[in-house]
Amino acid sequence: MVKLGVNVDHVATIRQARGGREPDPVEAAFLAELAGADSITVHLREDRRHIQPRDVDLLRRTIKTHLNLEMAPTDEMVSVALKVLPDCVTLVPEKREELTTEGGLDVSLHRHLVKKQVDLLRQGGIVVSLFVDPDLDQIKMSHRVGADYVEIHTGTYCDAKNDELQKVELAKIETAVKAARKLGLGVNAGHGLNYRNIRPVVALGGIEEYNIGHSIVARAVHVGMERAVREMAELIRGG
Ligand code: PXP
Repeated sequence: MVKLGVNVDHVATIRQARGGREPDPVEAAFLAELAGADSITVHLREDRRHIQPRDVDLLRRTIKTHLNLEMAPTDEMVSVALKVLPDCVTLVPEKREELTTEGGLDVSLHRHLVKKQVDLLRQGGIVVSLFVDPDLDQIKMSHRVGADYVEIHTGTYCDAKNDELQKVELAKIETAVKAARKLGLGVNAGHGLNYRNIRPVVALGGIEEYNIGHSIVARAVHVGMERAVREMAELIRGG
């Protein structure tokens, strides 16, 4: 069955807007699991702008599904991951000035660093996924550096200005999924997916898990976390 990973970073974004304790991303994760989420994702950023180390520690101790920790491939973050021991680490590029993750990790350019971090994390018993653009060179290099999974960056597809461009981006995702699976990599996907644009991606098949954050948290503001998660789960499982 296709899986839904719920990213609760933006619950922490609202909390950090006032620097207090509410809303709590740990409570949001609890509700997401009750509504059928298969995993919980958080991105512990270098600048700690939303998720805090306390959130990651509490999630590790309380969630009943899987914890996917998104992080930059730095020595500091690898040592955090080896202490927390999430079920999966997804390595992502990170720039301080960006609003959200922009583009996939350039595994080809940073292959030596990425291989070193993949080896350390895997030796620690953690499954490693690399967040990459739907680009064949990046997929091949992800396999060469020993990743277990790739997470295909769907942001360009989601941001496409018209149907023609969206079709071109969807075709890139389809080719990337097939290539990754042929190499024996597991395939996840995420970034920018919402209740309107997810169906064509699901229809491609071959993607094990979707990691979705902003659209679910945005809908949860109006309809509640459980309903927002349940509606997205129905879209991906029904597809
Ligand atoms: N996957 C990765 C690797 C990401 O960095 C993000 C954003 O934090 C997501 C998925 C979720 O993207 P969105 O919040 O647009 O659903």
